[in-house]
Amino acid sequence: MKVDVLLGLQWGDEGKGKVVDVLTPKYDIIARFQGGPNAGHTIEFEGKKFILHTIPSGIFNKNTENVIGNGVIIDPFVLKKELAKLKEGGIVIGDNLMVSRKAHLILPTHRLLDAVFEKAKGDQKIGSTLKGIGPAYTDKISRNGIRVGDIESSKFEQRYAQAKARHIEIIKQYDAAYDNILIDGLAFEAYETAWMEALESLRALKKVNSEYYINQALDNGKKVLAEGAQGTLLDIDFGSYPFVTSSNTTTAGVCSGLGVSPSRVGKIFGIFKAYCTRVGSGPFPTELFDDDGQLLRDVGREYGSTTGRPRRCGWLDLPALKYAIMLNGVSELMMMKADVLSDFQQIQVATAYTYNGMTTEELPYDGTACEIEPVLNSLQGWNEDLTTKTELAQFPQQLHDYISYIEKEVGVPIKLVSVGPDRSQTIMK
Ligand code: GDP
Ligand code: IMO
Ligand code: MG
Repeated sequence: MKVDVLLGLQWGDEGKGKVVDVLTPKYDIIARFQGGPNAGHTIEFEGKKFILHTIPSGIFNKNTENVIGNGVIIDPFVLKKELAKLKEGGIVIGDNLMVSRKAHLILPTHRLLDAVFEKAKGDQKIGSTLKGIGPAYTDKISRNGIRVGDIESSKFEQRYAQAKARHIEIIKQYDAAYDNILIDGLAFEAYETAWMEALESLRALKKVNSEYYINQALDNGKKVLAEGAQGTLLDIDFGSYPFVTSSNTTTAGVCSGLGVSPSRVGKIFGIFKAYCTRVGSGPFPTELFDDDGQLLRDVGREYGSTTGRPRRCGWLDLPALKYAIMLNGVSELMMMKADVLSDFQQIQVATAYTYNGMTTEELPYDGTACEIEPVLNSLQGWNEDLTTKTELAQFPQQLHDYISYIEKEVGVPIKLVSVGPDRSQTIMK
């Protein structure tokens, strides 16, 4: 068997959590392969709403196993809260959730580092979720990280103390008043105590060498779906650097983040919103600053699942979508939030960009060094509520036209259309 992949083609928040949950009954294992608690994946069903940060979105199906892979970084404090919220909502977790021993930990001082680095950037700030992502991945790559497997070691406390001391020295160079920084509303010492206590929740979870676990599962005919976090345009290599996250959010990340070879990658589901959003700083060619942008934000409830920040909104960007399809090798597309466009008489779509005196479909090397103007094509809107539609045949003709237009432009079929946040508001083609 092969690992299927579902990942975001824009700047995150495409609706990955919702669709993974919808697809889960078809899979034996759902596995996260990168990112950490910067992710916020929303799942809604039967009047309930959950937001997951670290735990795979397959957790609501009791017959599916969920693996947090080696490429993920874990904050025990966030994970503990996540587990508590699931328990409150009546979701039972036992051996159906497992964590790779090789996944790295986000330490309390990584959160401080994130805050001081971001502050030092001033108006060049990334707009990070401040969950410690950049500093934790930095330690992983510089071979200074602490992994989940290390919490069982007698040397854990010593290694923690060394890492903390090293971080504090760096922090002092930036901000002598670092001990005033609050983490999730707590002063450092209180947060550190809570973090240490939260290690117990992590200790209680099943640990696996997930590369063996997943490959053996595939050998035994099990079906595995890899769940991406963030989006392609936030990829550390191919996103609008430095306004990106610190991991490979693309299909390539599945191989290194789960330990599966490229030849074991199967279908690649690319998910995108029928328009675009971005939270945080960085170039956004089709961004709207007018009433249309506000309408998208209001109707689409475009406020961050992790931070509550208002998301920047704009029209669908076809050159960026093609770029993401190319980088990931997308085999099937899924279009989300089509219902949000129902209020528009006309819908705009970017087909190219103009910058530095040329018109091109290529994203610039540095999108902040030039004025990017989108070349827009205007399409007829449908002006009809979609949220109660249950099958393709009920779609207005203009929506069929919008779908066919995108398919023709990007050369990949759209196999799923989402018309609302609930699990049931999903239409397969
Ligand atoms: P993720 O990070 O990719 O999992 O996406 P988020 O959960 O951060 O953001 C997607 C938001 O849109 C969530 O609030 C979802 O409940 C919501 N959502 C998902 N699909 C649809 C849809 O088709 N229509 C509408 N209106 N909302 C949707
Ligand atoms: P999901 O999985 C949207 C953005 C941040 C910031 C940049 C770097 O829910 O789609 P970081 O915290 O990684 O240092 O932030 O990346 N970002 C996201 N935007 N959805 C996400 O995840 C994101 N995770 C990070 O807003 O611009
Ligand atoms: Mg999200």
